[in-house]
Amino acid sequence: MNLSAEQPIGVFDSGVGGLTVAHSIKALLPNEKIIYFGDTFHLPYGDKSSQSVRYYSRKISDFLLEKSCKTVLIACNTASASAFEEVTTHVNGRAMVLNVVDPVVKHLCEKGSNGTVGVIGTKGTINSGTYNDKIRGFSPSTQVISKATPLFVPMIEEGFINNDISNSIIKAYLSDAGFSDIHTLILGCTHYPLIRQQIEEFFDNRVKVIDSGHIVATELKRILEKENLLNPGNGSDKHEFYVSDYTEFFETISRTFFEEEVHLEKLDFWVT
Ligand code: DGL
Repeated sequence: MNLSAEQPIGVFDSGVGGLTVAHSIKALLPNEKIIYFGDTFHLPYGDKSSQSVRYYSRKISDFLLEKSCKTVLIACNTASASAFEEVTTHVNGRAMVLNVVDPVVKHLCEKGSNGTVGVIGTKGTINSGTYNDKIRGFSPSTQVISKATPLFVPMIEEGFINNDISNSIIKAYLSDAGFSDIHTLILGCTHYPLIRQQIEEFFDNRVKVIDSGHIVATELKRILEKENLLNPGNGSDKHEFYVSDYTEFFETISRTFFEEEVHLEKLDFWVT
C-alpha cells in the first residue's frame, strides 16, 4: 500500500450516528483530519437489504478514495455486517478498510468473554448474525443473545434520552428473559452510546456495556502506528462533513453525536 501519513481518515455511516466514532477518533488522534460521509439520503440502513447496503457502501468508498483518504472506516454496524468484505475487495489496497464490529469482538474476547454476552443493534445487523459468528469464532464457549432494537435510532434522534419514554422503550426491549444472565452488552449500533448510561442503570450497573467509539479509535491508532501512518501535523481544525441529503435537523443532531458544532455539506451524490 502506497499511503502517506498526511492523508485524511475517511469515515462513513448511513447518517450522523457514526459521528460518535468520529468523535472518539478526534479525541484520541487530534492530529488527524477526518472526512466524514453520512448517507442521509438512504438512512436508515438497518431496514435495507444487504444488497443495497453493499451497493451504497461501494459508492461511498469511491468518494472517500477520491478525497485521498488513507482509510475507509465503516462507522456503521449495519454496513460493517453486510459490506465489509465487498468494500475491502472494491478498495483493493488503495486505502485501509476498517469496520466497527471486529475491534469490538477482539476487545471482548481478549478480556475473556465466557458466559453470556448480549448484543443489540438494527434489524440488519442482528439478522446478519455477524456478532454471533465472530464472537463464537474467537470463543466457541461464549453464549450470544442478540436482539434487534430498531426503535432506539428514531428515539435517540428525536431527543428521547434520559426520560420516561426512553426508559419505557429500554425496559420493553431489554426485559427479555435472555438478557437476565448477561455479563456484557455490546451496543451494536453507532447511535446507542447516547443511551449507554441509561442502559447501564437499567441493569443496575451489573452489566458491562461496550460501545464501539473508543475501541475502534484505539484499534485505528494501533494500525496507523504499526503502518507508520500517524499524521505528525495538525489536521484537527479542518474536518469535513458531507451528507447525501441535507436538513437543518441533521445538522442540529450532528452536534449531539460529535459533541461540537458541525457544518454539513450536501453532495448531489445519488442524483444522476
Ligand atoms: N448507524 C447505523 C448502525 O450503526 C444505524 C442507523 C441505521 O439504521 O442506518 O447500524
